[in-house]
Amino acid sequence: MIMPDMKLARKRTSEKVETIRYKENKKYKDIAIGKKYYVKTYGCQMNERDSENIIAILKYMGYEKALSMSDADLIILNTCSIRENANNKVFGMLGRIKHLKETKKDIIVGIMGCMTQEEVISNKLLEKYKWVNFSLGTHKINELPEMIYNSKNKKLEINAPSMEGVVLEDLPSIRTSKYKAFVNIQYGCDKFCTYCIVPYTRGKQRSRHPKDILNEVNTLKDLGYKEVTLLGQNVNAYGKDLGIDYTMANLLEDVAKTGIDRVRFVTSHPWDFEDKMIDIIAKCDNIMPSIHLPVQSGSDKVLKLMGRRYTKEEYLELFNKLKSKIKNVSITTDIIVGFPTETKEDFEETIDLVNKCKFDLAYTFIFSKRVGTPAYNMEDNTSKEEKEYRLQRLNDLINKYALLNNEKLKDKVVPVLVEGKSEKGNMLMGYTDTNKLVNLEGPEDIIGKIVNVKITNVKTWSLDGKYIK
Ligand code: 5AD
Ligand code: SF4
Repeated sequence: MIMPDMKLARKRTSEKVETIRYKENKKYKDIAIGKKYYVKTYGCQMNERDSENIIAILKYMGYEKALSMSDADLIILNTCSIRENANNKVFGMLGRIKHLKETKKDIIVGIMGCMTQEEVISNKLLEKYKWVNFSLGTHKINELPEMIYNSKNKKLEINAPSMEGVVLEDLPSIRTSKYKAFVNIQYGCDKFCTYCIVPYTRGKQRSRHPKDILNEVNTLKDLGYKEVTLLGQNVNAYGKDLGIDYTMANLLEDVAKTGIDRVRFVTSHPWDFEDKMIDIIAKCDNIMPSIHLPVQSGSDKVLKLMGRRYTKEEYLELFNKLKSKIKNVSITTDIIVGFPTETKEDFEETIDLVNKCKFDLAYTFIFSKRVGTPAYNMEDNTSKEEKEYRLQRLNDLINKYALLNNEKLKDKVVPVLVEGKSEKGNMLMGYTDTNKLVNLEGPEDIIGKIVNVKITNVKTWSLDGKYIK
């Protein structure tokens, strides 16, 4: 039993990060032939990427995909802890699984992802969810085969040490898409924004070696992938921990040079967005003009309390620089309302910022208290109703600008990577260079290709279009 510990999770030392190269262990090969897995992924792209590794490990062990949860012999929940409601969803699911386990005693149930690293959650599991077989932490994906092997018919085993973290290389992976892929470039975060649990659940900022990243991108390109998204909690800080004078700007340029058709990256923190990086994005045609730049708030007072390290003015300056230097760039953001002590005036500053930036899209959230973070103890005297009102007002404004931005594309021809069939009828779907969803008419043989599409109709959240030769 290795329990997470929030105090340890906060620790940052200058010790060198260990790289562990995963090797398949023959002992576990095909031991689960005839058995089925069900993996449910919550939260961000980091978790989606981890699930691709998890599934490949399960396949090596002989597991096949189950069509439904009730059909599975192994259920893994890859969890998220960014907000309280993410945790609640998982506990709701555990309620359903408990019923299943009552009729099918030997199903193995495992929890992975960020919730495993929360001390309060691990205690709750031990108190009320002893029937769960294992909780395997974010630094320990490589130990999944042992965890499953040892968990048969046993009560809850927790293996979720709080540590600065390792870099796991050479994990097998079965990717969800044949055309676009996530490529991790760094793990963890050292920014410690006061509301955020990520630095505790994911550990210290650790960059992968450029060589490993470039090998992965080249392999993907050879396999026919058209797009890579470079993934990290704070990608602009890439390389700072490597001690080799190689930054995100260098990496972006080298990834662009591989010649892969499309390069994206998420998520950027305004703090580390260097001019050199902007110049590279502007210069390389295959780096997509689409930037996710979370602002969180427009109030200097709130930004300071959040520990964001920039003012509203500084954000606007960076925003305008990006807009003027990168042709046709679309900028999206994240905003939190109802942060402790946020007044009506503070909120108006956020509204003012949105009116100035007219974002292409924004993900908006009501502040959620996370145990162990500094904001947990900050005095919060805004009512729930007022927070909901603020969120609604903000969303209305965000939607207005999303539609206005989309309207600029009406009747224009834009490049779209066609990914497959649309959920709606017999249309196809894909994304523009600016990362906007398009439902389009066209022949099936354009799936997997980047083609020209004429935009015929626009909505707040998506575009309609027609393939043109
Ligand atoms: N409460 C509400 N939103 C949060 N986010 C992160 N932590 C919290 C929290 N405690 C939001 C931020 C971040 C996004 C991924 O989630 O806006 O950018
Ligand atoms: Fe969390 Fe992002 Fe801040 Fe890091 S930069 S602490 S991941 S909000």
